[in-house]
Amino acid sequence: MESYEISANAKINLLLRICGKLDNGYHKLYTVMHEVDITDDITIDIDPDRPSDIVVICEGMEDIDPKKNLCYKACDRFYARLHKKLVEEGTRERIVFPYTEIRLVKRIPSQAGMGGGSSDAAAVILALQDHFVNPFDEEELNSMAVNVGADVPFFLYGGTCLCEGVGEVITVLDNIPKWPLLIVKPPVGVSTPRCFAEADRMALVEFDRDSYRRLYEDIVAADGDADRIAGVIAANRDLFVNDLQAPGISEVPVIADIIRDLEGAGALLSLMTGSGSAVFGIFRSGEDAARAEKAIKESGRYDDCAFYRI
Ligand code: C5P
Repeated sequence: MESYEISANAKINLLLRICGKLDNGYHKLYTVMHEVDITDDITIDIDPDRPSDIVVICEGMEDIDPKKNLCYKACDRFYARLHKKLVEEGTRERIVFPYTEIRLVKRIPSQAGMGGGSSDAAAVILALQDHFVNPFDEEELNSMAVNVGADVPFFLYGGTCLCEGVGEVITVLDNIPKWPLLIVKPPVGVSTPRCFAEADRMALVEFDRDSYRRLYEDIVAADGDADRIAGVIAANRDLFVNDLQAPGISEVPVIADIIRDLEGAGALLSLMTGSGSAVFGIFRSGEDAARAEKAIKESGRYDDCAFYRI
């Protein structure tokens, strides 16, 4: 038996623009995803001596159908595509895949817009790619990933990436610093399909990709200097937009209160991430983020929220 122990990071969307809708109902996006240090732990045991099966075990989520878990889906797709590839190449006629047990310890909040399930799924794909000694090229991995979920391709790369298409056209953005963050997650989540459906009822807002290119260059040129980055964010505040935020707020109104209070407590910028319901604030320093966390907690208005300071 071989065992893999992996940790899978969460993400936030530093901005998210909707560019249009495809015939299959998915939306074309222009979004910058940024890895954050909140992690799920994943253990994968691969045992060819046991009967072939895929088993997903997630503590605290026993009542959810494991086959609906994105890790199950990722593993199942990986084996199906590997089977097809080996048969097409004439390497084998029939392959029996090994017993594969995936155990999850979840810390990334769900229904938060932080990509927990997608990150776990990408980690499974990468572990299997390693176990079977790199059977797929980058394009094949990417297409498998987007088939599991629109956010999954990003997690094959991590770091900070511009994600276009439905999420699978990836441009790695180097040299984006890890800013001090405070993330607040209300107890209720937002349903992603409902959030996109609500966005469809709102008018699409045009945006200029060149402005985003210049913003990226300005951030890199600030070279990690907190004052310069604060200046760049302030000067480009109107570019930090999440087109899913208004739909998210219409479903979970407290999101608007959290954004207002994070900005009131000194955040350079506060936005909902992805389809919500988590909200992040970017701060000039870790001390500023800690002060904001204290002030917001002391207001007593968010006792039922989860806080993550990174
Ligand atoms: O691919 P994933 O399962 O993460 O998507 C969840 C839902 O979010 C989809 O069923 C779809 O309604 C919506 N979605 C979308 N366009 C995207 C990503 C997700 O419409 N680019």
